[in-house]
Amino acid sequence: MRGRVIIGRMTIARNADIVILTGAGISKESGLSTFRDADGIWSTVRIEDVATPEAFARDPDRVHDFYNERRAGLQDPKIKPNAAHEALARLEAEWGGDVLLVTQNIDNLHARAGSRNLVHMHGEMLKGRCESCGFVCDWVETMDRQSQCPHCEVDGHMRVHVVWFGEMPFEMDRIYEALNKCGLFISIGTSGNVYPASGFVSQVRMHGTGRTVELNLEPSEGIVLFDEARHGPATRIVPDFVNELIG
Ligand code: APR
Repeated sequence: MRGRVIIGRMTIARNADIVILTGAGISKESGLSTFRDADGIWSTVRIEDVATPEAFARDPDRVHDFYNERRAGLQDPKIKPNAAHEALARLEAEWGGDVLLVTQNIDNLHARAGSRNLVHMHGEMLKGRCESCGFVCDWVETMDRQSQCPHCEVDGHMRVHVVWFGEMPFEMDRIYEALNKCGLFISIGTSGNVYPASGFVSQVRMHGTGRTVELNLEPSEGIVLFDEARHGPATRIVPDFVNELIG
């Protein structure tokens, strides 16, 4: 059937819209840590100490130091997009329908790989936000309590532009609208531990008509909710899956 592609038990229209969700697992082979693997970030530091508004109010220096270290690490020349990031950029460029890439990751590897229709639902590590005027800007250097907003020029109210636990992720209306009308939902490199992203597969099943696929190193918390699943390193299984979709 020319207008359709068959993958496993799924038949996908070649002009169907696709929504992709990625998590830290897609950046692991680029050299960035995940959160809940044995060597993950949350095995070395507590969420309550560095990734909540309360932590920032209690000890801003500790939070700034945590993100300054990760911001500098992300800018190491050795950290580059991998074959999985590049395959998703190719899918966006060559697929017949819309491809919306929703990432939980705060790194910049999807954009550097060429993805454009991209939502950073948890924000971006290389951006800063002023808590006085709301201005959001690129921020690649160290941030601290003296950092000045380039817009309102107030000192000491800058924070990293990421979503902490207890805060609302960005562009949720746009994401749910896309989930409700997509023909295919692909979840990549995420453990399915954190809501609302972990609920996206259920959103598609209950309110949409799309098929659902998990591409992950190992079965996630939500594995039973997916129509199809491929398990292995993202740099192998994601390019393979994209090649099956677009040939
Ligand atoms: N290829 C594919 N998947 C991998 C790879 C790899 N090379 N390495 C690890 N994974 C998988 C793990 O098996 C795990 O299921 O990636 C997933 C990473 O899960 P988490 O560490 O929980 O990261 P993530 O799901 O992105 O976390 C979601 O939680 O802490 C918050 O805001 C943070 O955005 C993050 C959110």
